[in-house]
Amino acid sequence: MPSAAIVTGASRGLGLALCADLLARGYAVAALARTQGEGLPKLAESHPGQLHWFSADLSDPAQQDSAIELALTSLPQGDRLLLINNAGVVWPVAQAGHYDDNALRHALSLNLMAPMVLCNRFLAATGAWNDRRILNVSSGAAVKAYAGWGVYGSGKAGLDHFSRHLVVEQAASAKPVRVAAVYPGVVDTDMQAEVRHAAPEQFPDLPRFLALKQEGALDTPEAAAGKLLDYLLSDRFGEQAVVDIRALP
Ligand SMILES: NC(=O)c1ccc[n+]([C@@H]2O[C@H](COP(=O)([O-])OP(=O)(O)OC[C@H]3O[C@@H](n4cnc5c(N)ncnc54)[C@H](OP(=O)(O)O)[C@@H]3O)[C@@H](O)[C@H]2O)c1
Repeated sequence: MPSAAIVTGASRGLGLALCADLLARGYAVAALARTQGEGLPKLAESHPGQLHWFSADLSDPAQQDSAIELALTSLPQGDRLLLINNAGVVWPVAQAGHYDDNALRHALSLNLMAPMVLCNRFLAATGAWNDRRILNVSSGAAVKAYAGWGVYGSGKAGLDHFSRHLVVEQAASAKPVRVAAVYPGVVDTDMQAEVRHAAPEQFPDLPRFLALKQEGALDTPEAAAGKLLDYLLSDRFGEQAVVDIRALP
């Protein structure tokens, strides 16, 4: 029976690497993002019929509502279905009192509301699949407070706690869906480049992030995606609601 995955934030960074790895593992993939970037058309060409991209601005409530149904139109019914809520923004990197209010609303809509709506729709619409799994891509910023990351960290903390609720609810369900929020580590993507351009007076940890890049301490998106998928597809996925991938044995 074919396996399939829905991946958000699929056009670049971690999301693109997740798509490439899933395709290599034989999954049919529905990829959601505002753009295709340079990578998705290449993946579609090298995996004919296996990858479908859908244009979606997941900060927009109407597009959050329709995303799962849209993605499912491209996926053949099979045994295992994955939802990877990966799309996210780190902006605004600023301390309270200095937020652009629209950027604040946009970030929470994309980083927290979108995964909640997509999980809700996914759970409601995919009962015919035998093995369903949800990976919510979170961050260590959910538990540790960094000055300037109040918006980002609060969204991820919300995502973690929502995932805990899903785990409790699914444990009592007749056909449980496996769920976890997972911290991927520090990954060399556009998001990290944006962090390195933050205003130092708003983000005092800037030197640490500059040093991580200089020291080559960031994971490649491909390496991070491989670790996340090995975990997501393992038997132990779902045993713990919130997981730091670096802390796994
Ligand atoms: N990089 C790290 O070190 C790190 C660490 C911890 C956690 N994470 C988490 O990992 C996930 C991926 O991050 P990344 O580093 O790969 O980021 P990235 O390189 O900036 O990529 C972000 C992805 O999200 C999509 N996206 C942005 N705004 C969107 C919107 N309004 N609607 C739909 N899609 C949107 C982008 O596509 P479009 O622009 O085409 O829409 C892109 O595909 C995020 O949830 C992030 O919080 C990253």
